[in-house]
Amino acid sequence: MRKICVVNQKGGVGKTTTSVNLATGLARRKKRVLILDLDSQGNIGTCLGAHPERTMYDLLVGGVKVIDCIHKVEENLHIIGADSRLAEAEAIMMGKPNRERILSTVMDKLNYDDFDFIIMDCPPSLSLLNQNALLFADEAIIPSATETLSFLGLKKMIETIDEYNNMFDHDLMIGGILPTMYDRRNRVCIEVLGKMEDAFNGMTLDPIRVNSKLIEAPGYAKTIFDYAKSSRGAQDYQKLVEFVIRNE
Ligand SMILES: Nc1ncnc2c1ncn2[C@@H]1O[C@H](COP(=O)(O)OP(=O)(O)O)[C@@H](O)[C@H]1O
Ligand SMILES: [Mg+2]
Repeated sequence: MRKICVVNQKGGVGKTTTSVNLATGLARRKKRVLILDLDSQGNIGTCLGAHPERTMYDLLVGGVKVIDCIHKVEENLHIIGADSRLAEAEAIMMGKPNRERILSTVMDKLNYDDFDFIIMDCPPSLSLLNQNALLFADEAIIPSATETLSFLGLKKMIETIDEYNNMFDHDLMIGGILPTMYDRRNRVCIEVLGKMEDAFNGMTLDPIRVNSKLIEAPGYAKTIFDYAKSSRGAQDYQKLVEFVIRNE
């Protein structure tokens, strides 16, 4: 089983969009996927039209078994959802021993043969929940918008991963840096993509182009593959899916 966190401390760079579409794309390729929503906004449930009763809160601090928090969305695709109580869970976790590894501990009860992939949608911060995700994951995919401020934040994110790896004797690998919202008619996008490719040679993946269908799809509780299957967004996320599968 591969555990991939989709992470960037910056908000609005495409983490949730990437988590939902990567996970669904993998599930449609017959991989058994579990998405963990670690953001108290609970966007994953909204995007997939799933509103599980038991959530991340129950799993992390409510003493509910992992198997009872998993909600089936469709064949091969399951989620553990989140809601606003997740912020409360995080406050409770702060006072617990070994607080950076609570997610790893509760997930340990899962039968790892039941899934091929766990995809984690991380919150936009360097919070305790994010630390938990980074320490549970073995690969990180880092979406980063192709604009200047995101590029600056990206360097910080990679430094943070190095720090955590050292501090906690962990081995989180960078599976890829994913340029998002790329518009090839926009000079800034072209320049920033070039800088990303120079600075992170070999790690920078093919960009996800800017596409209004990706913005519209959650409003219909649909993934890009159901909402607009021949759109640029669907093509680009399909490429990411194939990349992740090849990287096995
Ligand atoms: N490739 C894209 N093109 C256009 N809009 C996008 C793209 N990817 C994401 N978005 C939009 O940008 C906003 C932020 O994306 P989201 O995935 O929620 O980011 P994050 O989870 O990092 O905060 C959302 O409205 C989303 O629909
Ligand atoms: Mg998000």
